[in-house]
Amino acid sequence: MKYLYSIILTGLIIFNSFETRAEDGYRLWLRYDVIPDSKVLKSYNKQIKGLIVEGDSPVIRAAKNELEKGLEGLLGRSIPAMSSVSKKGVVIAGTPSGSQVIGSLKLQDKLSGLGPEGYIIVNTRYRNKKVIVIAANNDAGVMYGIFNFLRLLQTNQPIGSLSISDVPKINIRLLNHWDNLDRSVERGYAGLSLWDWQSLPGQIDERYTDYARANASVGINGTVLTNVNANALILTKDYLEKVAALAGVFRSYGIKVYLTARFSAPVEIGKLKTADPLDPDVIKWWKNKVDEIYSYIPDFGGFVVKANSEGQPGPQEYKRNHADGANTLADAVAPHGGIIMWRAFVYDNNVPDDRAKQAYNEFVPLDGKFRKNVIIQVKNGPIDFQPREPFHPLFGAMPATPLMPELQITQEYLGSSTHLVYLAPLFEECLKSDTYAKGKGSLVARVIDGSLENHSLTAIAGVANTGDVRNWTGHPIAQSNWYAYGRLAWDPYLSSEKIADEWIRMTFSNDPATVNKIAGIMLGSREAAVKYMTHLGLHHIMYEGHHYGPGPWVSRGRQDWTSVYYHKADEKGIGFNRTSSGSNAVSQYFPTVRDLYENRESCPENLLLWFHHIPWDYRMKSGKSLWDELCFMYHEGVKTVQQMQDQWESLRDLIDSDRFESVKSLLVKQERDSKIWRDGCILYFQTFSKRPLPRELEKPEHDLNYYKNHKYTDIPGIR
Ligand code: GCU
Repeated sequence: MKYLYSIILTGLIIFNSFETRAEDGYRLWLRYDVIPDSKVLKSYNKQIKGLIVEGDSPVIRAAKNELEKGLEGLLGRSIPAMSSVSKKGVVIAGTPSGSQVIGSLKLQDKLSGLGPEGYIIVNTRYRNKKVIVIAANNDAGVMYGIFNFLRLLQTNQPIGSLSISDVPKINIRLLNHWDNLDRSVERGYAGLSLWDWQSLPGQIDERYTDYARANASVGINGTVLTNVNANALILTKDYLEKVAALAGVFRSYGIKVYLTARFSAPVEIGKLKTADPLDPDVIKWWKNKVDEIYSYIPDFGGFVVKANSEGQPGPQEYKRNHADGANTLADAVAPHGGIIMWRAFVYDNNVPDDRAKQAYNEFVPLDGKFRKNVIIQVKNGPIDFQPREPFHPLFGAMPATPLMPELQITQEYLGSSTHLVYLAPLFEECLKSDTYAKGKGSLVARVIDGSLENHSLTAIAGVANTGDVRNWTGHPIAQSNWYAYGRLAWDPYLSSEKIADEWIRMTFSNDPATVNKIAGIMLGSREAAVKYMTHLGLHHIMYEGHHYGPGPWVSRGRQDWTSVYYHKADEKGIGFNRTSSGSNAVSQYFPTVRDLYENRESCPENLLLWFHHIPWDYRMKSGKSLWDELCFMYHEGVKTVQQMQDQWESLRDLIDSDRFESVKSLLVKQERDSKIWRDGCILYFQTFSKRPLPRELEKPEHDLNYYKNHKYTDIPGIR
């Protein structure tokens, strides 16, 4: 009987541990499972014998907790907290003022210049005993150092001769949530909003802490909780109490809370007759409102504002300009140290100019007219988060004003949470673009990290892809886009390869074969999506409304929301002439870049149709006609997805079955939908080119009408 009992018990334990190990993706990249490589594990266990994390702030407590939890998981045993360095192999973390041990190490020289968030990780000796020191000027820096130390272990790096000194290159690193108060998420494909407004402030879901941990682990230090298409109710007392509760959780991880401000709030919730930013009552209203916000959230970060864009209210309704609007809000938050992130995503249906030019035209004349605590938030490209765009011409064009990029992590135009698309190459392409604003080397990254024009207010925003589904992002690989954004926000000069390598090691495995296979799939995935959606510079030809599938035929309604406005296909050729003989959008770039784009021979082919209307029989660099090239590219895109499927299949025995099966089934949909893109676009453009599909290429399965009328029933975000 006793024997039977113990068999059942063992069975239960095994069952249970399988249960808890289910790879449902909840743990993201913070998995902390025992390191399977016994050599690595042994060497870490030799070098890590104890811990001293001194300091008593909430941030230090959270960081200490993370270190203990991380080490216990990774090393398979709990590492004792010590009160003094009584043996070698102690990990010591803290600031000179919060920790006696760190203080006595005289690290001032090493720490000077690291600011409030930088840190060092070094091997050194304390009273002749080998120790590992994680030190910073402030608690937040200690926390970032601890997360980096854990990342070194998670990625199996040697820790015997560490000499790391790391500082974020951008000061304010934000996620922008497009979350509504009813918990729907605009362009969200991973369930409902994480913010459960109904149960706040009373109930604090532990997910809020895990969200903060994930962000802090990559250095994200701010979160804008609400949609840019803002609801003024968030600024009312009841909601502010809820926001304060979230801020209370996030604060322990160095994360500040920000909100979106609806420009008409003084009218909507303040009962004023106007929201004119120069009206004294309006100025007073914002000041009082902001004081009230700070009474709930003393470290509130500030506002993001979408004004006079896509129907949102703004200063222009009162014949004021964007600077007038931004400055009124800026003056209200300034005494509290807050900032205003004013979006440059503006374009007007009634302005008969190329949409790609409008933000530049509106904002460049305002350069230098904004208060010191205003930063202009600029999307990476001049239209709207397309699979490929040239960099936004505003970067480098407003030297007297700090600019911050807005990147989209959620895949609005890139297959939502159904397609596997690793976005770091897209982000990197923008950040490493050379604006030539001050000659060669004036990279977008240098505009936004403040180094080009010596700005100290620096920020970056990424539109979040998170929701309340168990694995946070829907597609398991989409977690990498959150991770990659955070890493690039910390250091915009990092490479996509390095980030992918880290993420795969932390999220899947350190086995070289596994890392290589997954990296291969991820690194080619963005280009594949561009090829089966909008290559050669095509853009904005997606299905209206949901933006998931193709819709090059969309021609009804507001002109600059149609596809025909952008591709301009006719019997002669295809593409938007933005050269000096067309809309002259090229003139908004600095001369070297302008000339590059102006000339169709020098214009990079991957942007050709963005800047030029090109005849169907134009000879491409490959020797093919434009029409043939277009068809081949579409086919290559689909082929790459098929190869991704084969590569993924080869991971079957290398990774857990949960995530293996999930990605496998998503790739089946991705292949299906890449063909819909390919064949829908080719058949539609063929009505203009009147040319045959090159003989080698597989014929479309259906006629054009089929693609025009196709309805998706199994894609998140399509209602
Ligand atoms: C896109 C997107 C909208 C969003 C807008 C913005 O147009 O489709 O949903 O509100 O960008 O960034 O403001």
